[in-house]
Amino acid sequence: MSEIAISVKNVSKCFKRYAQPVDRLKDLLLPGKSRANEFWALQNIDLEVLKGQTLGIVGRNGSGKSTLLQIIVGTLTPTSGEVQVRGRISALLELGSGFNPEFTGRQNVFFNGRLLGLDHKEIEAKFDQIAAFADIGDFIEQPVKTYSSGMFVRLAFAVVTTVEPDILVVDEALSVGDEAFQRKCFARLQSIRERGGTILFVSHSAASVIDLCNSAILIDHGELLLSGNPKSVVFNYQKLIYAPAGKIQALREDIRSMNHQGKVNQSLNDSITKSSSPRQKASALYDPDMKPKSTISYISIGAKISQTHITNLEGKTVNILCRRSNYIYTYQVKFSETAYRVRFGMLIKTISGFELGGAVSHTLDKAIECVEQGSTVQVQFRFHCLLQPGVYFLNAGVLGLVDDTEVFLHRCVDTAMFRVQIEENILETGLVDFKVDTHVSLLNQSQVIPIGIEKKSKEIERNLEA
Ligand SMILES: Nc1ncnc2c1ncn2[C@@H]1O[C@H](COP(=O)(O)OP(=O)(O)O)[C@@H](O)[C@H]1O
Ligand SMILES: [Mg+2]
Repeated sequence: MSEIAISVKNVSKCFKRYAQPVDRLKDLLLPGKSRANEFWALQNIDLEVLKGQTLGIVGRNGSGKSTLLQIIVGTLTPTSGEVQVRGRISALLELGSGFNPEFTGRQNVFFNGRLLGLDHKEIEAKFDQIAAFADIGDFIEQPVKTYSSGMFVRLAFAVVTTVEPDILVVDEALSVGDEAFQRKCFARLQSIRERGGTILFVSHSAASVIDLCNSAILIDHGELLLSGNPKSVVFNYQKLIYAPAGKIQALREDIRSMNHQGKVNQSLNDSITKSSSPRQKASALYDPDMKPKSTISYISIGAKISQTHITNLEGKTVNILCRRSNYIYTYQVKFSETAYRVRFGMLIKTISGFELGGAVSHTLDKAIECVEQGSTVQVQFRFHCLLQPGVYFLNAGVLGLVDDTEVFLHRCVDTAMFRVQIEENILETGLVDFKVDTHVSLLNQSQVIPIGIEKKSKEIERNLEA
C-alpha cells in the first residue's frame, strides 16, 4: 500500500466578514450577538494525497483553492476537521507570502531557508544554485520591493524547490514568468516527482495540469466537486466555466453524481475502449474497436458537430495511419440557428492531452460571414501524418459570434482517435517526425569520408538514448 503524504478529513473553513471594519472591533469589545456575516469558503473537504502523487487543483476564482492550500501548509487553521501532513512541506503560495519586501533577495533566501528548516550552512551551500536558477543578476542584492512580479516568482520558486521538500505546494505562481522560465520550472517539478516528492499544483492552464499531474480535483464554491484523472477533471471544469448561466446548476449536479459513481477514476489508458458491437468491418487500416472513451461534447449553441472521422485520400475511413502519408480529417456541422463569422477548428493531442498541433479554417477577418439556419456544412482538414507510432486524439470545434464575441458554437473533445502504425527500423525518436536527414562522415585530415549512414545513425541514436 502506498504511503499517505497528506490527509484532509472533513475540513471546513468559515471566514467572518464584516460590513464595516468597526464592526470587527465592536465584536471584540462588546458582548452579544456577532455583527459578522459567516462565509464558508470550504465545506466538508475529504482528500488523501499519496506520496509521489502530483495533484492538480482547478476551480474558478474564489472557489477556495488557496484557502485549502493554506490549511494544508498550516498558515490557516480549519474551522473544523483535521489535516495531517507527513514530510517537509515547502510552498509557493500567492504572491507576496513569505518574503519580506524590505530585505534583499539574498537576505530573503536565508530567511526563507531557515523557515523551511535548513541551517545557515546548508543555505550557504545552496545559495549559488538558488541564485543561478532565479537568474535575476545583481537584483539578488536589492530589496525585494524593487522586483517585478516575474523576478519575485523566479527567486521564490528557486528557494522553495532547491530545499528538496518532500511535499511542494505551488499556487498559480508559474503563470507569471515567461515560457522559457516556465519550462525550467516544469523540468524542476518533474525532477521532484522523479525522486518521489509529492506536489500540489493549482493552475489555470489546462495543458499544464494534464501534462504534469497524475490526478486532479475540481473545487467549486468550497466543495470538492470532482476528483479523478486530470483529463476528465480539467474538461469538466472547462465545461462548467463555459456553460451558459442557466445551465450551470444542472451541470454541477451531473458532475457531482459522476463523482459519486466514481466514473472519472479510470486511468488514462482506459480511454481506449473495446467496443462489443463493431459496426464497421475491420481491415488493416481500420480497427472498429478503437473508439475514444473520453469524448466530451460541450453545450451546443445552434450548431452541432457530427460524423468526425479520418479518411485516406481514396476516401476510405481509417483509424490506423501510416507515417508520412496524407489524410483528411472530416466532420459535419448542422446549424439549427443562423450563425455569423463562422470558423472551424481541429486539434491533435497525445494520450495525456498534450496539444501537438491544430488549425482553424479561416483567419478571423476572413471568417464565413453567415451560415443560414438549417444548413449542413462539411469540413475537411487535409494533413500530413508527421507523427511517430502511437495513439493520438482529435478535437473539433465551430466558432461563431454571440453578442459580438467569438465563442465556440460547439466543441467536441476527443471526438476521434487514431493509431500511427509501428514500422520496423525507424530512426526517428520522440513524438514528431521532423523528416530528419542524417549525414555522418569521418573527418580524416583533409578528407571527408561518408560512412554507412543508416548503420551509423542507429548507433548515434542508441548512444543518445543510453
Ligand atoms: N481572510 C479572508 N477573509 C474573508 N474571506 C476570505 C478570506 N480569504 C479568502 N476569503 C474568501 O474565500 C473564498 C475563497 O478564496 P480563495 O481560497 O482565495 O479562492 P481561490 O484561491 O480558489 O481563488 C473567496 O470568496 C474569498 O473572498
Ligand atoms: Mg487562489
